[in-house]
Amino acid sequence: MTDPLAHAPTLTLTQQAALGSGASFWTTEAVGHIPSIVLTDGPHGVRRQSGASDHLGVGGSEPATCFPPAVALSQTWDPDLVERVGAALGAEARALGVHVLLGPGVNIKRDPRCGRNFEYFSEDPLLSGVLGAAWVRGVQGRGVGASLKHFAVNNSEHDRMRASSDVDARTLREIYLRAFEHVVREAAPWTVMCSNNRINGVYASENTWLLTDVLRGEWGFDGVVVSDWGAVRDRVAAVAAGLDLEMPSSGGFGDAEVVAAVTAGALDARAVTTAAERVAGLAVRAYESHSAAGHFDIGELTEAHHRLACEAAAQAVVLLKNDLRDGEPILPLAPSRLAVIGPFAEEPRHQGGGSSHVNPTRLDIPLDEIRARNGDQAATHFPGLPTDSGQDSEQVRAEAVRGAAEAEAAVLFLGLTADEESEGYDREHIDLPQAQLALLRAVVEVQPRTVVVLSHGGVVRLDEVAKHAPAILDGALLGQAGGGAVADVLFGAVNPSGRLAETVPVRLQDCPAFLNFPSENGHTVYGERVFVGYRWYDARALEVTFPFGHGLSYTAFAFSDLEVDSDGPTVRVVVANVGPRAGREVVQVYVSKPDSQISRPPRWLAGFGSLSLESGERRTLEIPIRRTDLAFWEIRSGQWGVEPGDYTVSVGASSRDLRLHATVTVEGDVPRAVFTRESTLGEILADPAAAPLLFETLGTAAQDAPAMGTDLLRMLESVPIERMVALSGGKVTPERLDDLLAALNAVRP
Ligand code: BGC
Repeated sequence: MTDPLAHAPTLTLTQQAALGSGASFWTTEAVGHIPSIVLTDGPHGVRRQSGASDHLGVGGSEPATCFPPAVALSQTWDPDLVERVGAALGAEARALGVHVLLGPGVNIKRDPRCGRNFEYFSEDPLLSGVLGAAWVRGVQGRGVGASLKHFAVNNSEHDRMRASSDVDARTLREIYLRAFEHVVREAAPWTVMCSNNRINGVYASENTWLLTDVLRGEWGFDGVVVSDWGAVRDRVAAVAAGLDLEMPSSGGFGDAEVVAAVTAGALDARAVTTAAERVAGLAVRAYESHSAAGHFDIGELTEAHHRLACEAAAQAVVLLKNDLRDGEPILPLAPSRLAVIGPFAEEPRHQGGGSSHVNPTRLDIPLDEIRARNGDQAATHFPGLPTDSGQDSEQVRAEAVRGAAEAEAAVLFLGLTADEESEGYDREHIDLPQAQLALLRAVVEVQPRTVVVLSHGGVVRLDEVAKHAPAILDGALLGQAGGGAVADVLFGAVNPSGRLAETVPVRLQDCPAFLNFPSENGHTVYGERVFVGYRWYDARALEVTFPFGHGLSYTAFAFSDLEVDSDGPTVRVVVANVGPRAGREVVQVYVSKPDSQISRPPRWLAGFGSLSLESGERRTLEIPIRRTDLAFWEIRSGQWGVEPGDYTVSVGASSRDLRLHATVTVEGDVPRAVFTRESTLGEILADPAAAPLLFETLGTAAQDAPAMGTDLLRMLESVPIERMVALSGGKVTPERLDDLLAALNAVRP
């Protein structure tokens, strides 16, 4: 951060406390010569309210480009594109007078029912972290601050302001904090937003371990910690824990509590000064960056940003299935007599509900866009489902089915309606409405060339759709230009290259958190531990409807010549476009540790990259793997470690389409836990330096060990060394035990 000003010490305690809370819903206090700044949602568009304010997406806001929400952006697997979207968001924020844009959301999609999954990137921490960092770089490159949220372990909406996410240390580090850590270390967001929930019993806003020890101490964060709107319950405890800015305004109430606590000696005055300095530093940085980055006019940005929103949306579309008819794939469509079915064709579901809700500058209607690309052929629309309560559903469906039968192909829009998922509440199931499935079956029965286009914020169950529909495009939520993007993919102007950022399970009951979602009695038990998303389905060898990373193309790619340098390691693979059209391939690198000493998933994503190739072209793609992406959290020492030995590196087109494999040997670096009275004999005997000394002390020469018999040794393995006092018949005294432990620790290199 730029000079943190050091203005705050010259301010009175009351002024310092005032800097630590909002002046209004969206602004901070102006104090002395420190200016007020504007913070606004985020993440996929600027929600700048000039009239009534709210954080629920209820009131109006200025028109701004509605880019694809994170659920779709992540399907691009393209950090460069995400950075360009971030830059466009930053420019619009500047044009609308916003200093901090409240995003990105990098919480892990632990369960498909979370109502806010549309605002998050993925079930995988690496993909979430890389895309989140790109978003931050883009926004901040325009002189606007980002706010990395919701820190942390906020993975459901149910009881979100109270429930405790109860997670073990390893799972926290490897899954739930990992994307945050990546973004903080790689992109240095100006602010981090703490979440509403508790973590292992302590509110995020009052969590010293989270906000100070980990965020600042370990990761080096030097910006402002802002609360989620309404997340502060006890401002004094929050300031003591490392919260700098309470939002929105608490009407001066929290400020008075801070002043009183300092006066009474219950809060260290330096904590208030530090928080005030950071907020002052943020305000100065925001104003300096605004003037340095030039002037933006929202009117002048609108056209280009709509085109960028369309490009991003088209790249986000995932081709889930594309069967052959008469020897040719159904997609892309040639202009023909089309039946376009479903209410979403006219009223697209394009974003989620709640605080992120953007007032789009315009909205592409899929039906219009399809017509515009269908030459002089007719594209007739049929609702297929009742759009008002007076309609007879049988009749509406029959008309659509008749239309489909008479057409040369049908495009059927299915998905979740806006009221089924939103910030603030979770879904209870993942099913599509039964009426939609009945419509699908009836249409497919009469029209063999049926293409399903899906709209949804969270994952929906697709086994029925996959069984009946011969072609499926998954658009998730595509933002304001999604209509044009879908039409571009349908007719082949864009060759789809999106990949799922989340597994589509066969049934809700298969999901990792099925038995532990949402919270009960104020606690959410993260019982599946590190086995989240594909890590779980692979470990349990469960069938899935579509795996993580899946997505087809109108062309075909072949991988060859895999090389892995142990230096790095770095993966090199030759990718060839062996199909009929130009296209982009996303190459995914998964790593396994077959002989791991800890319980790990069968494989995890350790890198990815993409390249665009003309038909017949081939090129080498290089994908670096960071050592941190091989690491695990060693709980006894409380540090990251890398297991030594062989790792299998697999390259493929999805987590279940792994095409090439290689082995790389990695030098290990496992932090060693100090032997304590609780260390077991087995743990000590596993250490080559300590084992002989232990044998010696136990009166058994190391070379005699086999004589003890494997069964006896195995029985002894689980005995904590302190029990030798009781079990040695007085030979090992407590004093001797401590001497022995000191010697065992000293003998290790
Ligand atoms: C949401 C945040 C949002 C804030 C301001 C809260 O309800 O959880 O994501 O940034 O409101 O609208």
